[in-house]
Amino acid sequence: MLVDFLLQKGFQNITVLDILAAAIDRAKALLGEKSKLVKWVVSDITEFKTDDHFDLWHDRATFHFLIRNSQIAAYLQIAGRSINNHMVVGTFSKNGPDKCSGLPIKQYTEGKLQNQLKKYFEKISCINQDHITHLQTKQNFLFSSF
Ligand SMILES: C[S@@+](CC[C@H](N)C(=O)[O-])C[C@H]1O[C@@H](n2cnc3c(N)ncnc32)[C@H](O)[C@@H]1O
Repeated sequence: MLVDFLLQKGFQNITVLDILAAAIDRAKALLGEKSKLVKWVVSDITEFKTDDHFDLWHDRATFHFLIRNSQIAAYLQIAGRSINNHMVVGTFSKNGPDKCSGLPIKQYTEGKLQNQLKKYFEKISCINQDHITHLQTKQNFLFSSF
């Protein structure tokens, strides 16, 4: 839906990445014909190879799946060299779940995230927000822009 919205607003050069081909296929199907306007990438983000540069990088609930320091370092190296301007990251907060889809995740506070990203990025703002899932459960997120 974010991609749909961005296209409606006239944004161009949009790339969508997910490790799961099924997730990409579902997003493509939702967009229909408009999916041709988007670059789709099936890749582990920590192994993403690109020469593209992004004005805005939006990550909702992927960064928190990276548990090992080596995964986080690889992600930040890729993000650090590919992002021209802004990065928005949504992770589960300290008051959020400790798993997502049965998989362990890393919870973040503003300070912990800032510390993790400080080598490449400067914090602009962080807010906590409750997300109500389709099962009507509440997940507390930390949404941050850098
Ligand atoms: C909670 S879902 C969020 C999906 C979408 N960003 C959204 O906001 O609706 C997390 C997504 O992260 C993807 N993911 C998990 N680990 C990943 C990785 N290492 N590289 C790329 N995608 C990953 C999963 O396949 C899943 O689609």
